[in-house]
Amino acid sequence: MASTDGTPMINRQWLLARRPRGRLQLADFAYRAGPYEPPPLGEGEILLRNRLFRFSPAMRGWMKTTAQNVAPMAVGEPVLGNTTAEVIASRAPAYPVGAIVSTLASWQDYQVIDPAAAAIPPRIKPVDVTLHDFEGVFGTNSLTAYFGLLRIGEPRPGDTVLVSGAAGSTGSVAAQIARICGCRVIGLAGGPEKCAWLRDVCGLDAAIDYKNEDVGERLAALCPDGIQVFFDNVGGRLLDIAIDHMARFGRIVLCGQIASYDDGDALAPGPRNMMRVVYWRLRLQGFIVFDFIDAVPEALADLRRWHADGRLVHRSELVVGFKRLPESFLRIFDGSSRGTLLLEAD
Ligand SMILES: NC(=O)c1ccc[n+]([C@@H]2O[C@H](COP(=O)([O-])OP(=O)(O)OC[C@H]3O[C@@H](n4cnc5c(N)ncnc54)[C@H](OP(=O)(O)O)[C@@H]3O)[C@@H](O)[C@H]2O)c1
Repeated sequence: MASTDGTPMINRQWLLARRPRGRLQLADFAYRAGPYEPPPLGEGEILLRNRLFRFSPAMRGWMKTTAQNVAPMAVGEPVLGNTTAEVIASRAPAYPVGAIVSTLASWQDYQVIDPAAAAIPPRIKPVDVTLHDFEGVFGTNSLTAYFGLLRIGEPRPGDTVLVSGAAGSTGSVAAQIARICGCRVIGLAGGPEKCAWLRDVCGLDAAIDYKNEDVGERLAALCPDGIQVFFDNVGGRLLDIAIDHMARFGRIVLCGQIASYDDGDALAPGPRNMMRVVYWRLRLQGFIVFDFIDAVPEALADLRRWHADGRLVHRSELVVGFKRLPESFLRIFDGSSRGTLLLEAD
């Protein structure tokens, strides 16, 4: 098979070069490129050309031998990741040639998948949504924020809601949905620029720079009556501090644990103040966005309405160049990314 201009297809790939230890390094990845002859498609299969890559912190966990929700990534194989791809050949009527889909794929130009065998069916891009908005403001992270906050956190008007990783892709949407629900919202983020953005642009009531301020002291001053909902993307020290400041019958939404993703295979210690969970009757509940797959259309309708009327602000950053995948992924963990970090293949 040749590309549309008749030249032979070249498949560029980024492979997991070795099992990472601690903080990710560029040497954990290896680049390979070579001619690509797609295999004949089986019944129900589709051939994808990956166009847009989204970096998700969970991918770091999938690189560990102890990965829990997917099979651990194999060393020497393309890095598993979320992409938006164009269907360029199809034997699946629900995914015709030309459809644009968001799916779990990998860091390579071309690949064959079987949508029916995927844990989560690929989602087709509506024609009136741009590629970037499809993976950004209307992407998986916004859906995560929506379901996690509304279905697990169950915020009520007047509640105080705390969000960690609040300036990030998921956190910034969770924080703004809480504000839209009539809650008082406090964000935890790293650095003065992110905190100012949360207050001035996203309309949060307060933001705490967890890297430079005493989080416990600030929460004590800001929430003398406690926090009703904590949407936690981070875990570790910030979860410990938040538990100390929860209100009775408070709900803690366990969305992610980015503070421990760089740890080794040994599990990080759990929360310290579990007797407060008992006495204050707190609920800690995890969830996975796809638990709510049937409600995605309803969620997207709300997100689209809020975005259109200016109540939901979204920021994303676009990097161009397939070769830049590893260096861009590293930025998720050092705090230098702003909102949803996307990479477009050149
Ligand atoms: N449950 C689900 O279904 C689901 C789905 C999607 C994502 N998630 C989870 O949601 C969380 C956010 O993911 P995202 O894609 O939206 O990423 P993101 O928030 O856009 O990027 C990660 C941010 O986390 C912060 N961070 C990194 N290391 C940290 C540390 N040690 N302590 C505190 N903050 C740290 C950084 O911001 P600062 O500069 O503020 O430190 C960084 O910008 C992750 O935990 C992810 O696993 C869960």
